[in-house]
Amino acid sequence: MRFLGVMLALGLALPAAANTPVELLAGGCQGCHGVADAGANGIPMIMRAQTRDDFVAAMRAFRDNSREATVMGRIARGYTDAEIAALAAHFARQP
Ligand code: HEC
Repeated sequence: MRFLGVMLALGLALPAAANTPVELLAGGCQGCHGVADAGANGIPMIMRAQTRDDFVAAMRAFRDNSREATVMGRIARGYTDAEIAALAAHFARQP
C-alpha cells in the first residue's frame, strides 16, 4: 500500500476512473510543482505565463513525446483529454 501511495503522490496512478475528483488529479502535480506561486526545486509553476490552451497543448505534447521532458512525458500519458481539460480549468482557478 505504501508503494501505491507513492505512485498516487507522483500522479502515476492506475488509469483513473472517469469521475476522479480533479482535486485528487491535481494533488499529484503539486507535490513537484508546488502550489500557488511557489514553484519548487526549479520546476516551473504549472500555470505561470500559460493560458488554459497552452496548458492543454503542453500536456498533449508531453503525452505524445513531441515535447522533450525528463518526467512529464511519462506522467502525461496517465491522463485522458477530459482529465487534462479538467486540470486546466482547476489550475486556472488558482490565485
Ligand atoms: C515528478 C515530478 C513532477 C510531477 C509529479 C509533475 N510534474 Fe509537471 N513538470 C515536472 C518537470 C521536471 C517539468 C519540466 C519538464 C520535464 O523535464 O519533464 C514539468 C513541466 C510541466 C509543465 C510545463 C510548464 C512550463 O511552463 O513549461 C506543465 C504544464 C506540467 N509540468 C504540468 C503537470 C501536471 C498537470 C502534473 C500532474 C498531472 C504534473 N505536471 C506533475 C515535474 C513534475
